[in-house]
Amino acid sequence: MTERRVIVDTDTAGDDSQALVMAALSERIEIEAVTVAAGNVGFDDEVRNAKYSLQLADSADVPVYEGARSPLLKDHETAEYVHGEGGLGGDLDPEVDIPSADGFAPDAIVELAREHPGELTLVCIAPLTNVALALQREPALGDLLDSVWVMGGNVNCLGNVTPAAEYNFWVDPDAAKLVVRELDVTLVDWGLVVRDSTFGTETLDRIADAADESRFADFFTSIAASVRAFNREQFGEDVTTQPDSVVSALLVDPSLVEREGTYHVDVDEREGLTRGYTLVDELGVTDGDRNTRVVESIDEDGFRRLFLDTVVHGEPERSLE
Ligand code: RIB
Ligand code: CA
Repeated sequence: MTERRVIVDTDTAGDDSQALVMAALSERIEIEAVTVAAGNVGFDDEVRNAKYSLQLADSADVPVYEGARSPLLKDHETAEYVHGEGGLGGDLDPEVDIPSADGFAPDAIVELAREHPGELTLVCIAPLTNVALALQREPALGDLLDSVWVMGGNVNCLGNVTPAAEYNFWVDPDAAKLVVRELDVTLVDWGLVVRDSTFGTETLDRIADAADESRFADFFTSIAASVRAFNREQFGEDVTTQPDSVVSALLVDPSLVEREGTYHVDVDEREGLTRGYTLVDELGVTDGDRNTRVVESIDEDGFRRLFLDTVVHGEPERSLE
């Protein structure tokens, strides 16, 4: 299988860290660079978390570029209430002695795309500020990339930060609006994540039981503590979802996609009740470009197996031929 070369744009906290570990351990993915955007927790914590995750997966050589420390226009709101203080579950607060790469992340995205035209996949698992800034620098960015994958939005379903909106699109709706308009994106939305990537106590216990043998299982179990507590308190359910790892998993094994559709998508950038709302024209009643490929269903068992192979065995492709 040919390797897929990626740039990962991340607001590294719990679930981002697992997506980075999966991509770093995968024999099918080569991480060219990681770029950090304002999102889940304090920016310097996100940068530390990205470096820590890469180092844990023996990929400390991957350059980490620092990007936008706030959304394009909106005031920034972090989500420590989900990810814990520092973003790694609350207890983990590791020191990491790895310098960031020189240069501003949006510039790095553009320069790498120009250096390797048509070869790089941009994996967006954060608010889309860096990607919007890269587009402003290089309007032809879409022609210079192989593909663009985005975790964000909520396709005609309940959001996770307001009823109308999912966090990545809510934090920087101006950036999200620009990105889905200017780039042909493959979208992994919150609805798919809840339907097909939710782990209950059986799976979570299986990972916890492997913590003594696997540093990855130990890491996941630590970071999952805060999101499990949040879900127990908010919804009465002891579960975790794996939003960003769904994107990594689909890049490792595209056959996990069971159903998809291509639609016109727009984002409400206005302040107010519907800030960050994702309009997905499944009815075909608008005349907007149908340029967003929405992943609507994935093989839930296959995803879980790939995730377990990653965190328990350190081998994402262990069960794949
Ligand atoms: O809504 C989930 C998304 O917002 C994930 O990418 C999570 O890491 C946060 O960035
Ligand atoms: Ca994220």
